Amino acid sequence: MFEGRVALVTGGTRGIGAAITECLVESGASVAAGYSRGKENAEQFVKRLGTNGSRVTVHQGRVDDVDDCNRVVKEVMDRFGRIDYLVNNAGITVDKTVRKMTVDDWRQVLDVNLSGAFQMTKALLEHMIERGSGRIVNISSVIGETGNVGQANYAASKAGLFGFTKSLALEMAQRGITVNCVAPGFIETEMVAAIPEPVLAKVVEKIPQRRLGRPEEVARVVRFLLEDESSYITGAVYSINGGLDM
Ligand SMILES: NC(=O)c1ccc[n+]([C@@H]2O[C@H](COP(=O)([O-])OP(=O)(O)OC[C@H]3O[C@@H](n4cnc5c(N)ncnc54)[C@H](OP(=O)(O)O)[C@@H]3O)[C@@H](O)[C@H]2O)c1
Repeated sequence: MFEGRVALVTGGTRGIGAAITECLVESGASVAAGYSRGKENAEQFVKRLGTNGSRVTVHQGRVDDVDDCNRVVKEVMDRFGRIDYLVNNAGITVDKTVRKMTVDDWRQVLDVNLSGAFQMTKALLEHMIERGSGRIVNISSVIGETGNVGQANYAASKAGLFGFTKSLALEMAQRGITVNCVAPGFIETEMVAAIPEPVLAKVVEKIPQRRLGRPEEVARVVRFLLEDESSYITGAVYSINGGLDM
């Protein structure tokens, strides 16, 4: 399906990002997967995929660092010569109520989750414009739609991605580039494993399907948005949340 195409997936070696990388590789794409601190995990992930690094490369770089974003894009261009798809997936949480949240807690999350998507997009947008084609998918969250106690920074960053997505979709509408958002609910990854068990049990009670989502269930929607046949979908938000918010 994606033979000869190249995807850059930030945070692409763990959790949802790893599932996206795996799904795109299975569909024939070459994937450059970004990571920040988990070098060992990234290397093991590539081994597990078993393509001998021919179609999957890993790139260390912080999305909240402009120089890192530009360097990673250059590495990918040097290696593969093109980037067709960008999936802005890297994200963090620093959960505290607003009363306890420091300015630094706020900035850290906004810098990675929102500015990171902007900076990585900036680093390769001209390349997509020159080629007259491209697909950008931003991974937001149901929390950006509903808000959540203890997650004002995270909710603001994820709500910000909706506005960023729609504005960029408008700017790119006549340039062959689509920009969309995926908003997962609670998905089984390390991020959710960090939620205390009793709190998580209460969350699951509120999900109409009474279960967490699987990373693969997010990945298949991302793949769908990247397909050539999805060219008329832009500025959209796809919810994947077991009915938690509808
Ligand atoms: N899990 C959920 O329930 C859920 C729900 C809705 C939305 N989401 C969103 O989905 C995305 C992936 O979540 P996940 O649960 O898969 O998270 P995860 O397992 O914690 O993985 C996060 C990934 O982001 C990378 N990362 C973190 N900070 C970075 C930085 N400064 N620069 C570059 N990369 C960085 C990490 O790199 P290292 O491997 O080096 O640590 C890791 O690969 C996030 O944007 C998250 O907000 C998750």
